Amino acid sequence: MLEIKIRNVKEEDFIDIMHFATNCAPIPLERDSIYHDLTRYFATTCFIAEKEGKMAGFILGWISQVNNTIAYIHNICVDPDLRRKKIGIDLYNRFIEDVRDKGVKKIFLIINPGNKASLNFFQGQDFKISKEGEEIVIKGDRAVKDYNGPGQHMIVMYKEM
Ligand SMILES: CC(C)(COP(=O)(O)OP(=O)(O)OC[C@H]1O[C@@H](n2cnc3c(N)ncnc32)[C@H](O)[C@@H]1OP(=O)(O)O)[C@@H](O)C(=O)NCCC(=O)NCCS
Repeated sequence: MLEIKIRNVKEEDFIDIMHFATNCAPIPLERDSIYHDLTRYFATTCFIAEKEGKMAGFILGWISQVNNTIAYIHNICVDPDLRRKKIGIDLYNRFIEDVRDKGVKKIFLIINPGNKASLNFFQGQDFKISKEGEEIVIKGDRAVKDYNGPGQHMIVMYKEM
């Protein structure tokens, strides 16, 4: 039986998260300071999974500052050697429980077209594809054209809670 502990991040976790994130393709790497900012200022909605005291995954997200009934999952990543063991689901559930308790009613996230694992993961959690902006079909996926700037088309997903 896989013993996984989920806990809120602490500020000093940012260096471990930074190294861990190199195994999270296709999620792009952030500037190091972004991981630090998230663990320092958004620790209440960021979690890590640990197996025997070692990081096995993380989920980083926040509640919108302009509408506190909306949350955003910035990224979620599980150790490639530990995937398909429900660690992603455990992290996701912890995030959901936390933001629901804080009054969140809707969650957004974005996915790179072609990231079938992630698409399947979130569709399995009842996320729907959001229709906004101009649609473009890439690798069979419906994405929002230029969502993150020219040529950076993203699948935008949401879930009502
Ligand atoms: C997406 C990710 C976090 C899933 O983590 P995980 O711990 O492996 O996922 P789980 O074991 O909790 O999977 C739950 C369900 O999601 C779906 N799923 C997960 N990985 C999948 C894959 N590679 N292919 C298809 N479906 C997948 C399945 O329905 C799975 O249930 P099942 O194993 O009973 O079939 C992981 O693949 C990852 O870290 N990917 C790289 C980073 C990334 O793309 N993050 C998402 C960007 S927002």
